[in-house]
Amino acid sequence: MPDFAYSDLKPYLDSLVPERHAELQTMEEYAAENSFPIVGPASGQLCYLLARMSGAKRICELGSGYGYSTAWFASAVRDNGSGGVVKHIVWDQELSDMARVHLKAMGFCDCTDCNCSCTRIDYHVGEAVEALKNDDSGPYDIIFCDIDKQGYPDMLPIAMDHMKPGSILIVDNMIWSGRVMDDSEQDDDTLAIRKLTALVCESDRWDAMIAPIRDGLLIARFRG
Ligand SMILES: C[S@@+](CC[C@H](N)C(=O)[O-])C[C@H]1O[C@@H](n2cnc3c(N)ncnc32)[C@H](O)[C@@H]1O
Repeated sequence: MPDFAYSDLKPYLDSLVPERHAELQTMEEYAAENSFPIVGPASGQLCYLLARMSGAKRICELGSGYGYSTAWFASAVRDNGSGGVVKHIVWDQELSDMARVHLKAMGFCDCTDCNCSCTRIDYHVGEAVEALKNDDSGPYDIIFCDIDKQGYPDMLPIAMDHMKPGSILIVDNMIWSGRVMDDSEQDDDTLAIRKLTALVCESDRWDAMIAPIRDGLLIARFRG
């Protein structure tokens, strides 16, 4: 097995992602200039692929930022056929407003009362797990979680209440810059990520793995 620097992997994988919408590139530039932690091109492409391969029409994002990962999911839902919804939840009004501008530029509407067949973005400003808890719109095909890390373990049962057999859970930062593998790291964020890892990977209700892409994406299929 050849050895290589993990830090070389990200630029290589990112370089393989096909040219994307100009608005996505604008969002990537903003993230680089402002050190905003977006998932980046390769993880975005993986999210797109998972949504396309599963034919997802209903996706809920917990901790959405200014719409970068939302844009990948929304593109997949649109490419899966007419209609569908991506729920964008973040507790910063400013980020929610920024997301509206970016996603509108990519052609995604936020209407709730027209009869158009476009893919809709459902914007919600507030604490994400609480918002999901109060969501009675039906099960989601994909739930993507990128909230504060200490909130990960308590997110899981709420997410499961909003899934059906075959639904997919995706969670970012599951490698946490390698801290999850270092027993001397005992801070609350690292402990919470380890706890979620155990809750999913040691449960017979999930088929799961952590894909070592960027900071680690947990990909888990809900058995029910
Ligand atoms: C890492 S960023 C999300 C980036 C996004 N996945 C992307 O790639 O575009 C997480 C965002 O969620 C917000 N956030 C963190 N915990 C949250 C929570 N419990 N409820 C709502 N928003 C949260 C943060 O303020 C931040 O804006």
